[in-house]
Amino acid sequence: MGFFSRTQQLVLRREKDGGLVFNPKNTVTIEVDKQAFRLLELIDGTRRLRDIYNQIKNETKATMTQQEFLEVITKLLNYEFIVKNSRIGGKNVVQPINPWFKGTWLSAPEKVHLMVTSKCNLSCKGCFAKNRTGKDLMINQIKKLIDQLAKMRVFQLAIGGGEPFLCKDIVEIAQYARENKILPNITTNGTLLNKTLATKLKPIIGRLQFSLIAPNIEKNDEYRSKGAWDGFIRGCQIARSQKLNFGVNVLITRNTLSMLPQITKLILKQGTTDINILRPKPPGDQNNWFNENHLNEADLLILKSSLIKIQQKYPMVNLTIDCSLTHIMNYLPIKFCQEHGIFGCTAGKRFLTILANGNVYPCSFLDKDFLFLGNIQKQPFREIWKKATKVSSGLKSDWNNRNQKQKLIECCPAITLVTASEELI
Ligand SMILES: C[S@@+](CC[C@H](N)C(=O)[O-])C[C@H]1O[C@@H](n2cnc3c(N)ncnc32)[C@H](O)[C@@H]1O
Ligand code: SF4
Ligand code: SF4
Repeated sequence: MGFFSRTQQLVLRREKDGGLVFNPKNTVTIEVDKQAFRLLELIDGTRRLRDIYNQIKNETKATMTQQEFLEVITKLLNYEFIVKNSRIGGKNVVQPINPWFKGTWLSAPEKVHLMVTSKCNLSCKGCFAKNRTGKDLMINQIKKLIDQLAKMRVFQLAIGGGEPFLCKDIVEIAQYARENKILPNITTNGTLLNKTLATKLKPIIGRLQFSLIAPNIEKNDEYRSKGAWDGFIRGCQIARSQKLNFGVNVLITRNTLSMLPQITKLILKQGTTDINILRPKPPGDQNNWFNENHLNEADLLILKSSLIKIQQKYPMVNLTIDCSLTHIMNYLPIKFCQEHGIFGCTAGKRFLTILANGNVYPCSFLDKDFLFLGNIQKQPFREIWKKATKVSSGLKSDWNNRNQKQKLIECCPAITLVTASEELI
């Protein structure tokens, strides 16, 4: 059958009933069972498949037949987790093997959102980060945090703000994360990007994500902020010319729902096929903005069919939707979703948000006092994570019950809190 090997950049983390596999190439994290996880640990191009099969059977006492084993191999090949005819072996060794995790939930978040500053040079309508104040964390505090995240084997650091390029240490922070095997990604309004910065960031970050709301300067700057359009266009131009991996976050509101086809064309013209659709969430202090822009059930149905049409028209587009929209995919079987990293709301369950002052919450939109999890200057991150898993396990956003409980069809607790005035826990 030839030799197989893990793809080189794959990151593995053991958990309770198996493990998590993170593919930095497409930034997707997938859960696999103990047998598949063990297979990924062992498959390094130096062992024969039959030997791996026997070893896994002995170790895990699994009743896996050879046929089932080959089916797992085929699945892993399809995910591009393993490649054929590769014998990279020694170069591709996984870190020393830990015991299987014994806790009740994941040993660590997959991703941490870090606001490196609360300052911004724009003033977008409805921005959840607009009125945040307080002193930003210092570089040494952020490095200490990254050390802890690395020990827990967190896969990704989503850097945002405010405007992250207003943080003078941004390159050093991203570099430090990368050196510690955490993939840094940055979301920006694009206004402050220049060629020098892009060249520095290119070998370090996974991708830059630019923000957009409408397909022309008038509407974009009316709905976002003056200067946002120029930042977007220039940012994309620079990223493209420097061959930096980039994509676009599109905030779709009631006012821009019909503009999605033009928005898609505009983005493709900028030279990327990576489009991530965001849904308006309550910014906390700007209720009027939310009421005017919120997508209701009817809007969501329009959005769903519009997204399907776009995907059919442009099959090469890598179209993703944010966590608060995943329930529009409720026609997909749970197993399929799990296998594709679609988990619904994962606030405090798979990621955490750290504000610029070090305060931690399950999600940027759940920065409520009763969901405060600690401050990274005062508590070890591991403790904060333990608290998060307890607090967040009760959040009403149960993706698995999405078809049974009509009330939870909203899926995003931050939205439900406002639209249905529901208790969160
Ligand atoms: C807060 S900004 C920070 C990074 C950077 N300043 C930027 O604009 O890209 C991150 C993303 O959050 C989105 N955003 C801001 N307020 C939002 C809200 N109330 N609901 C949904 N998305 C929002 C923005 O459109 C942007 O894409
Ligand atoms: S640029 Fe980003 S952080 Fe600044 S106001 Fe706009 S959305 Fe908020
Ligand atoms: S509350 Fe959950 S679904 Fe809503 S934005 Fe936060 S993580 Fe996403």
